[in-house]
Amino acid sequence: MQPVAEAVVDLDAVAHNTRLLSGLAAPRAQTMAVVKANGFGHGLLPVARAALASGATWLGVTSIAEARTVRDGGIGAPTLAWLYGTGDDFAWAVRNDVDLSVSTPRHLEAMPAGAAVHLKVDTGLTRNGVAWADWPDLVARAADLERRGTIRVRGIWSHLASADDPGNPSVALQLERFDEALAVAAKAGLEPELRHLANSAGIVDLPATHYDLVRAGLALYGVEPIDGVTAGLRRAMTLRARAVNVKRVPPGTGVSYLHQYVTDRDTTMVLVPAGYADGVPRLLSNRGAVAIGGRRCPIAGRVAMDQFVADAGDLDVALGDEIVLFGPGDGAEPTVEEWAAWAQTNPHEILTGIGARVPRTYIGKEHVHG
Ligand SMILES: Cc1ncc(COP(=O)(O)O)c(C=O)c1O
Repeated sequence: MQPVAEAVVDLDAVAHNTRLLSGLAAPRAQTMAVVKANGFGHGLLPVARAALASGATWLGVTSIAEARTVRDGGIGAPTLAWLYGTGDDFAWAVRNDVDLSVSTPRHLEAMPAGAAVHLKVDTGLTRNGVAWADWPDLVARAADLERRGTIRVRGIWSHLASADDPGNPSVALQLERFDEALAVAAKAGLEPELRHLANSAGIVDLPATHYDLVRAGLALYGVEPIDGVTAGLRRAMTLRARAVNVKRVPPGTGVSYLHQYVTDRDTTMVLVPAGYADGVPRLLSNRGAVAIGGRRCPIAGRVAMDQFVADAGDLDVALGDEIVLFGPGDGAEPTVEEWAAWAQTNPHEILTGIGARVPRTYIGKEHVHG
């Protein structure tokens, strides 16, 4: 069976990015590879293995189910899970040495004996994390549980709202609050081994946010986290397909649903077998582009569920020829950032939106088997 569309993941790029990011964090801070959401769409296990072989020492996931994927894949590296209700299978996490984040007083009470926890404080994102007003009581209770030997507080952490917006005053405010939260915890008797705050943008641009551990998501996959700041990352994913129909059409030909694209000359229409079910946003209709034979070709008309049409002009295209939907940006192909701009979203949503039926294939010397 030959896939008509595939996401090719360059694990050498992941390894390069990990080395670069962990080099920025070292020697003070360790690096966590954030591999939630199937490794931002790249495949959790291959990315995790490549990152751990290249300088990352921790893995970050959201759900306990994702942590299970890590352990079922034979990876025993330190792993933190951070998003769940209070009734999840925390006993499994303890048995399998998965650290658990605590973001509400009720989560703290739900932690089983033996849990290694990271207390998450909301320093201003107003998303997850212990509410500021609850923090003093929560750390007092956690310190009590630690003294009794019930749990171990390994980390205190928080998440930044605007690190990718240089000069945004919220960063300094969150840093101040984080330090205050650490001081309140220290007063209660908690001196955790890992304080962590930085995401990709913090790693690249804000050394003051590094503390003991940095959490690399987007940058691990090669997308520069801050517009206009080039850290030297390499994009890991190339989305490509093969032409499944090619036809020459005359001027005045309506293309795809509702004929929202009408040709103005003799031209060649190339059918690309990937649609919005595969993660090609409908907003790319009549707006996006792909690369065929090293040339940019506009998307003609509506993107459909399984397919769309590209206008190849007078290019000589044959059935089975390769079409690059997005890639590293070394040639004519669009980048994932361009796709995100066309689709009025961020690169994260494009990468995590690549559909389940698109096979992921892996290239690179650093491909770690097992
Ligand atoms: C808590 C937390 N830390 C770190 C990250 C990684 O962020 P980024 O992709 O900006 O590096 C995420 C991802 O959204 C996150 O939710």
